[in-house]
Amino acid sequence: MGLPPFANEPVLELRRASERTKLRDALDALAQPLRVPVWIGAERRDGDELVSTDPGDPERVVALAARATEDEAAHAVAGAKQGFARWAQLPVGERAAALLRAAAWLRERRFELAALALRECAKSWPDADADVCEAIDFLEFYARGAVELDAGCELEQPPGERNELFHVPRGVCAVIAPWNFPLAIPTGMAAAALATGNSVVLKPAEQAPGCALRVVEALRAGGVPADAVALLPGEGEAGAALAGNPDVATIGFTGSGAVGLELLRTAAEVVPGARQLKRVVAEMGGKNCVIVDADADLDEAVPAIVESAFGYAGQKCSAAARVLVDASIHDLLVERLAGAVDGLQIGPADDFATDVPPLIEAAARDRVRRYADLAASEGVLAGDPREVPDRGWYCPPKLATDLPAASDVLHDEIFGPLLAVEAVRDVDEACDRVDALPVALTGGLFSRNPRTIKRVIARSPVGNLYVNRAITGAMVGRQPFGGNRLSGTGTKAGGLEYLLHFVQPRVVTENTVRHGLVV
Ligand SMILES: NC(=O)c1ccc[n+]([C@@H]2O[C@H](COP(=O)([O-])OP(=O)(O)OC[C@H]3O[C@@H](n4cnc5c(N)ncnc54)[C@H](O)[C@@H]3O)[C@@H](O)[C@H]2O)c1
Repeated sequence: MGLPPFANEPVLELRRASERTKLRDALDALAQPLRVPVWIGAERRDGDELVSTDPGDPERVVALAARATEDEAAHAVAGAKQGFARWAQLPVGERAAALLRAAAWLRERRFELAALALRECAKSWPDADADVCEAIDFLEFYARGAVELDAGCELEQPPGERNELFHVPRGVCAVIAPWNFPLAIPTGMAAAALATGNSVVLKPAEQAPGCALRVVEALRAGGVPADAVALLPGEGEAGAALAGNPDVATIGFTGSGAVGLELLRTAAEVVPGARQLKRVVAEMGGKNCVIVDADADLDEAVPAIVESAFGYAGQKCSAAARVLVDASIHDLLVERLAGAVDGLQIGPADDFATDVPPLIEAAARDRVRRYADLAASEGVLAGDPREVPDRGWYCPPKLATDLPAASDVLHDEIFGPLLAVEAVRDVDEACDRVDALPVALTGGLFSRNPRTIKRVIARSPVGNLYVNRAITGAMVGRQPFGGNRLSGTGTKAGGLEYLLHFVQPRVVTENTVRHGLVV
């Protein structure tokens, strides 16, 4: 295809007044509420059963979406099965070109899309902009990756024999997405499936149907046929109906461990009518730990930990949840972290000065409050009580210390702005604690000793380990992302090998010793 090499989409320079003005104007211009249909082929069924609201101002309706029924889930899969037959036959270059045009569509609307992610999911401006860029990156990266995969690979070719390995798409892919990267994650999973020739039924998170509508519009505007990508807004029931359909070959899921495990169980059951084993690509939650050695540079560690734990109010799957610090500097680190946390500004996502925006919904705020109360009863909650805006799902950032080893605060994924700090004897004890966890998504280390760094790299079970930097912000093509153990099926979004999960390999061997030629 002669494409230029992949490069990450540059984020906006938000210090520039001109960029800020464009974002603000885009926010003011958002059509509200957005109507999100069940969209199967050319058929659109509008509805208002799902109401998506602004987490910072729950009275404001951002999108009104239809809630897909079980019958609609079945209808969407049937449509996608027909769409698959044609889409899979297209040369890979044509499929890639459609994804690149979808990327261009998103790029042209980046201000409007960032504004929508901000409104619907309370992403701060830098996070909303990064979400748009990551969606574009996934399209650009997987388009190139699919072309590369299609070129095949070298096999041994002894005289008289020709061997060929190629990859074919698996069929209909159910893409079931979370809300916390409302553009990037659905786009990424759908792009990987589509680039490799599968058709897609997208079931977005009930909290973010508006963003998902834009994703499907982008794909269709780019040239993905209407019957190769359907939109199925709904709640868990719609996802379950989709996942259980015998004609779904692959489930691309990102979300909580509980739902991911349920999908793995669903997929393991071969239902009547099934013609292949379902495959599940599951990216799930974690309990991400940052180890701080006695020799760490705290000027570097403190801001990086604060960014990792409290950016997007702790609602990134990669967010730091526990800090395991050498006992000799525990008190100093806690004091400095507490000072930094007190300085964080809590406020609406559309305020450029906000550090900690509201949480996605009331249930999330209540959950974090419960864990904060538990931390206060079992240990110590550092910092003074903070005022938060009275409208919206705000939750003040907190540090918890002196918790007992068995505390749920140290083991459950809280998914909010609550960071636990624990003293450890040394880095090895910290590694033992990390190793004791059943989840292994991201992790971090601050150390100035190359031998320590090497040791922790060797001992760390996590899918993505970050050394002497923040543990959030993985970039497509640079940090293929995904967890190990119960955090995921070990696939790496944003890396080339991710595409292998959406295809099946076939090998053809031909005896080329001719016994006469028929023409
Ligand atoms: N590892 C990663 O890359 C990654 C990235 C983002 C988020 N996450 C995780 O996602 C979680 C937060 O997202 P969430 O609250 O949207 O997760 P969730 O599991 O509640 O929902 C994810 C999706 O699954 C659907 N769903 C719910 N019940 C279902 C069922 N029974 N069958 C099929 N689908 C069902 C939801 O409607 C939604 O679309 C956190 O645990 C976070 O760590 C992980």
